Amino acid sequence: MTKFLLGAATSAHQVEGNNDRSDTWAAEHLPHTTFAEPSGQALDHYHLYKEDLKLLKQAGLNAYRFTIEWARLEPAQGQIDQGELAHYREKLTYCHELGLTPIVTLHHFSSPKWVIEQGGWENPAVADWFAAYASLIVTELGDQLSYICTINEANMGLQLADMIAERLKGTASSVQVGINTVSRFSEQMLLLRKDYQAAFGAETPAFFLSPRTEKGDTIIMQAHIKARRAIKSLRPDMQVGLTLSLHDFQASLGGETLAEQAWDKEFSHYLPVLEEDDFLGVQNYTRKVVNSQGTMSPSGDLPLTQMGYEVYPQALEHVLRRVASQLSIPLLVTENGIATADDEQRISFIDQALTGLARCREDGLPILGYLYWSLLDNFEWQKGYSMTFGLIAVDRQTQERQVKLSLSYLGQQLERFKNKH
Ligand code: BGC
Repeated sequence: MTKFLLGAATSAHQVEGNNDRSDTWAAEHLPHTTFAEPSGQALDHYHLYKEDLKLLKQAGLNAYRFTIEWARLEPAQGQIDQGELAHYREKLTYCHELGLTPIVTLHHFSSPKWVIEQGGWENPAVADWFAAYASLIVTELGDQLSYICTINEANMGLQLADMIAERLKGTASSVQVGINTVSRFSEQMLLLRKDYQAAFGAETPAFFLSPRTEKGDTIIMQAHIKARRAIKSLRPDMQVGLTLSLHDFQASLGGETLAEQAWDKEFSHYLPVLEEDDFLGVQNYTRKVVNSQGTMSPSGDLPLTQMGYEVYPQALEHVLRRVASQLSIPLLVTENGIATADDEQRISFIDQALTGLARCREDGLPILGYLYWSLLDNFEWQKGYSMTFGLIAVDRQTQERQVKLSLSYLGQQLERFKNKH
């Protein structure tokens, strides 16, 4: 039996710094941007990754999930940056030197700017562009890789579209990611549309994190399928999957039908695609309680995270069981975590989440591992640096790292999963 993967996750744009060939960087710098602040140097993980990975290793962890950033590798269509390829080769080699299993994500929200200028994630051609990129990575770096997540949270765009629809109806809604929405008719939005036109050639560019149409949803799946095919043709043994943002939907007061529909949209309708994968990346942060009107606001019975949703670590076990009842491929928890300034609360969250996960394994669910989100306090997209999910704090003036107790706590939990199955 393969070893249980226990570690932490990051994404390139949120930690590396200066991702200035990406759409996200461009969007952060527009005069009427909705980003609270620009990502800037981030945590300079691009240069300091060795220090960060040593801390992860010293804590006793054995796996690290990170992105190979498309915008760095292919700054203009068809033009490959060899220096960046060398950078990621060094990073992968270093993971192996430390005995860390790398789990690589090919797309984590940020895209090369040229992709968005050419119709972005609503243009069917993006599937071929992405597959070509996947091919490049496996050709150049495949000897260092055994797990690839093609697309992070492939379902996020549909969730964003739903969130906007729910808000228009006046019901509560949220997504598991840092987004700031402005009213469609506000002055800021009108001005932002002009900024978008100037920067991307479209008033409503199709970013990965734009509200997605059903057609866009099909395009994302095509991108995954084509990338998977490209990877497998080069390396049939590569473990390939995508990741999904999954809520623990709970029905209340006649909300059964809506809760079921929400799960179908978030998960079940992807089953024909997922069944062909080697694993599914499960990403869960909280629950959603749904009544006959839609998603309910938090009742006030549970504390809230900095993100504004309920602290509910039990959600992970519920989601794993629900997914496994419909899909029989292995599951890898590619993200689970809490944004809090209170590290004791983080430790308790991790403890409860892992207790639930261990119960699932005892019942025979095929769970490959658990990757906490996130290794470092980082750039939470439009919310900037205000959300602290990390196992390691960073002073952004000096880039000094300060390890939190939760890091060693997580490392110690490997014992729970040794010699089982
Ligand atoms: C994303 C991360 C994000 C995290 C916390 C997930 O949706 O993959 O990029 O930082 O949630 O909100």
